[in-house]
Parts: sequence; structure tokens; C-alpha cells
Amino acid sequence: MLGSGFIGRFYADSLQGQRSRDKIVSIYSRREESAKKFAADYNCAHWTTSMEEAINHPDVDMVCISLPNNLHEAAVLACCKAKKAVMCTKPLGRNAEEAKRMLDAVEKAGIFNGYLEDLVYTPKFLKALASVKSGALGRILWAKSRETHPGPHSEWFWDKEQAGGGCILDLGCHCVEISRSFIGKDIKPIEVMCWADTQVKPIDAEDHAIGLVKYENGAIGQFEVSWTFRGGLDLRDEVMGSEGTIWLNSFLRTGFDMFTTGKGADYVAEKAESNTGWLFPVGDELNELGYNHMFADMFNAVEAGKAPQETFYDGYVVNAVLDAAYRSAKSKLWEPVKLEVWRGKEGADKEKSLTSYNEQFYLIKDEVTHFGSRKLILKDKKTGQIVEQVI
Ligand SMILES: NC(=O)c1ccc[n+]([C@@H]2O[C@H](COP(=O)([O-])OP(=O)(O)OC[C@H]3O[C@@H](n4cnc5c(N)ncnc54)[C@H](O)[C@@H]3O)[C@@H](O)[C@H]2O)c1
Repeated sequence: MLGSGFIGRFYADSLQGQRSRDKIVSIYSRREESAKKFAADYNCAHWTTSMEEAINHPDVDMVCISLPNNLHEAAVLACCKAKKAVMCTKPLGRNAEEAKRMLDAVEKAGIFNGYLEDLVYTPKFLKALASVKSGALGRILWAKSRETHPGPHSEWFWDKEQAGGGCILDLGCHCVEISRSFIGKDIKPIEVMCWADTQVKPIDAEDHAIGLVKYENGAIGQFEVSWTFRGGLDLRDEVMGSEGTIWLNSFLRTGFDMFTTGKGADYVAEKAESNTGWLFPVGDELNELGYNHMFADMFNAVEAGKAPQETFYDGYVVNAVLDAAYRSAKSKLWEPVKLEVWRGKEGADKEKSLTSYNEQFYLIKDEVTHFGSRKLILKDKKTGQIVEQVI
């Protein structure tokens, strides 16, 4: 494990929880006391303040990168040198150029690479995706994802150089991969329009943004991200298809509401801002946030010699979409997604969904009214005229 901070500990809880057979055998942290503390907390035999030493430890089969964004590339390159399988947290790079160098390096070294995008592994997401793939929603038209909270935990996130950006990069990476998965990872994202601003925090990067991602088949992705939201961690997705709808609420208001005057002062949930009054605790954060399913996929894939659901290639595509968002926020125009490598469909058709009613008409709408009749709205296939029939 590289990094003993916020996410390193969530990952460790998931990796070693529930009688797992996977084990953290070496922990690297920048400071000796943090490395020692992590080693003690997770019963880890080896700790070090040298990244190379942890990666090259003979008992290490797989490296998990839980370091600040500006250190991902150096860590990946060290794994390539040591020929160790690697998993990297999000975002893969601070931009697509950095992500592409990481992708090229792991592919050249021929090592396993997994992109740790936990929010496409939550139980709710996996079930929703299975429904979308089975056709339950028809053609996906719009996939919106929101992640907003009161801001990240460590100082480096707030420094544009180390983090690579603000909430667009930090949170938009989750949202883009969620929308992209619902729309289809083989469908090319082509253009982005984004509004971003620094509304509250005294920082150079953006603390609030909304963006639209256009896909080649005509579907639209939408992300809403903020480091200025008050009230906890808001994770919500909406998918709209020609045959159905899905709404997911992954963290606040998930069916566990609690009131307390504050006597117990318990930990409530990640980024909860209060522990009194009405609260929304989360039953099992590791599972609800997707960590368990994510690591199961990663380890099953490495053992089977297969690629996991999320690879460095996915991380690279996400970075390319977010680069376009940053360009659009500046230019105020639709900006193209620049993908040097594209492995999905080329020239996906803009799908049409004209429902034929009979030889003469297309069906626009079929409705039963409150006064008991059935109303059909139809369009003549030849003349284009729109007519109404009450049955
Ligand atoms: N849901 C998620 O997938 C999720 C959530 C939070 C963070 N992250 C990602 O995990 C990575 C780490 O974030 P975090 O919240 O754990 O950060 P953090 O500051 O809590 O931890 C970073 C760790 O990196 C190590 N480190 C080594 N050199 C360092 C240096 N020069 N400066 C600072 N730390 C150094 C330290 O051990 C430190 O504990 C980031 O890339 C972040 O985007 C992912």
C-alpha cells in the first residue's frame, strides 16, 4: 500500500475486512510515524518511508496507489520498473497527458493495471447497470451524476499544482465514469460544455462546476460537482432512457434516518457535517461506496489473467473528458474531447426511436385520460401531419 491517509485506510479496511484472504504486506508513507501507525493498525509486517522499498518487497504481488494526485505517475513508473501489478486511485492523472504516459508505461511493461473508480462498483450502481444493459431503460438518452460535499480533507487537494485542478478533476472523474458506463463505454465522448467558478473558497482552482458531455450516439452525460455543498456527501445519479428511468441516491437519504440530541457524538458517515439533529448514517460505507466489489473485481481479474472492469485506459478517457471541461470553462464554448487512443466504436450512429403505430402513422403518445377515454397522438409517416384520435 502506497499512502496511509484517508483513502489508504478505507482501502485497507475493505481489503482486510470480512475475513479476506488478501493482505497488506508492506506500507509506504511519507512520515515514519504514519507508516508505523498504519502497520500497527492493520497488522502489517513491513513499513517504510521509501516507495521503491515497498514496491520491491519480495512479498508484494500487487501495488495499490493511494497517494496525492501529483505522485501517481512516479509510483506507476516505479511499478513498471519492478514489473509489479498496479492499481491506482482516481483521478489517474492530473490531465490526459499524464494519464496517457501512465497508460503507455503499464502496457509497455505488460503489467496488470486497474483503475480504482469505486463509484462504478457500488451495489446500487452494479444493479442499475445490469438493468440498463438488459434493455430495461431502452436507449439511454441522458445520464446525470452528482457528487457534492463541503471539500476534501488534506491540504494538497486545495493546491492547484499538486491536485491538478479543483472539484472538476476531484469529483468530476467519478461522475464522468458513471455517466459513461450507463451510456456505454464503447461510445465516444466527443464534446464538452462546462461552467465552473470559485464561489466560496480562497483557492485558485474551481470549487463548483456543471458540465455536459456529448456522446457520438446522441446521448448526453451531465456532471454536477462542488466543494461548497453543505450537508454532507451528496451522491446521486439519474438515468433517462426511451423506455425507463433510474434514480440512485447513494449516500444521503438512503433509508436510514436518525435523530439525536448529540449525547453519543458518534461517527455518522464520510463528510457528515454534524452529529446532532436529524442524521443520515450509512450502514456499511465500504460496501455502499463500492470498495468491496471493486477489490474483488481487481483480485479476481489479476488471478484470472484478465483485465478488470476499470483499467488505466478508462482513467485516461476520463482525464481527456475533464481536460475538455477545463478548456470549455475558459472558452465558454463546446470543446472537443481529444483522444489520441480510442478503443471503442467509431462513427456510432445517432440512434432514432420512431415507434410505428401502423402503416400510416408513427406513435407520439398513447394515454388514458382521467375521464376514461384513450387518446392517441400520431404522426402521418408521409405528410408529417400530427393528429389526435380519441378512442
Ligand atoms: N473515493 C475515492 O476513490 C477517493 C477518495 C478520497 C481520495 N481519493 C484519492 O486518493 C489519493 C489520496 O487522497 P487522500 O484523501 O487519501 O489523501 P491524504 O492526504 O489523506 O493521504 C495521502 C497519503 O500519501 C502519502 N504521501 C506521500 N508523499 C506525500 C506528499 N508529498 N504529500 C502528501 N502525502 C504524501 C501520505 O502517506 C499520506 O497519508 C488522491 O489521488 C485522491 O484523489 C480517492
